[in-house]
Amino acid sequence: MNRKVTVVGGAGNVGATVARAVSQKELADVVIVDIAASKAAGVALDIYQSCAIGGSASRVTGVGVEGFAETANSDVVVITSGMPRKPGMSRDDLLNVNYKIMQDVTAEIVKHSPNCIIVPVANPLDAMSQAVFRLSGFPRERVMGMAGVLDSARMRTFVAEELKVSVADVTCFVLGGHGDTMVPLPRLSTVAGIPLPELIPADRLQAICDRTANGGAEITKLVGTSAWYAPGVSAADMVEAILKDQQRIMPCSVYLQGEYGINNLFVGVPVKVGARGIEQIIEVALTEAERAALHKSAGAVKELVDVIGI
Ligand code: LAC
Repeated sequence: MNRKVTVVGGAGNVGATVARAVSQKELADVVIVDIAASKAAGVALDIYQSCAIGGSASRVTGVGVEGFAETANSDVVVITSGMPRKPGMSRDDLLNVNYKIMQDVTAEIVKHSPNCIIVPVANPLDAMSQAVFRLSGFPRERVMGMAGVLDSARMRTFVAEELKVSVADVTCFVLGGHGDTMVPLPRLSTVAGIPLPELIPADRLQAICDRTANGGAEITKLVGTSAWYAPGVSAADMVEAILKDQQRIMPCSVYLQGEYGINNLFVGVPVKVGARGIEQIIEVALTEAERAALHKSAGAVKELVDVIGI
């Protein structure tokens, strides 16, 4: 195919799910890179063979980090490498170890695909996105962290469950960092255009917001490691919006420069996503309480960013 997507850390659970979704949808050829070279080759081969079922023409290959040249001129690079969480760990516990991985990985990406769009997925998501942005020297339009798509998918699932309606009609709006302080916004979330507060009692709605904010930890506790299906498919959804220039409005972690009163920090906000990456950052008017919650969440991201000095 004439488009190429690289998944760094692609032999892991999240990465393999991204590679599978991108190739199944025939969006691009996919290169999996992983420190586990043999596993990368094997996982890629398995996914490649799965493309035969359904007839996708995507080609899927896997290499170790010494084969990074295979990724040359990728359109989009998704970074899923990094330590996942163990039960009881917060995303923030991964800060230093994953920052080191971002340093190694970003240098290789910039060297081989200087014009790509990077979608960081590693945790703590917003701080790692900021690290990749700074290390890459890319314009802010070309670094967009995956978090809000996942968080809003979780909230949509819980709303659909609560109301016994099709999730296809549920739209949810989640702002802020991808951490315990994330800000689900029921006021701007709807079922077929009907705001959630008109459909769900306040206490039930609060429970849904809390469960959304703890959605990753809930799965980590059950499975023993981080989630991968919903995170992987969420990243692939962003890749699709970019490759097809869909101009979709998606919540993404992006570098804010004054928007929402936040400066020089990656935080999740609604973004128009297209071929150039971030086509536009959408600013919506917030209530005082919503704005305070967003700034609290941004403060939590800032603390992490300050620890690693980026
Ligand atoms: C989660 C991890 C991927 O939210 O951050 O499941």
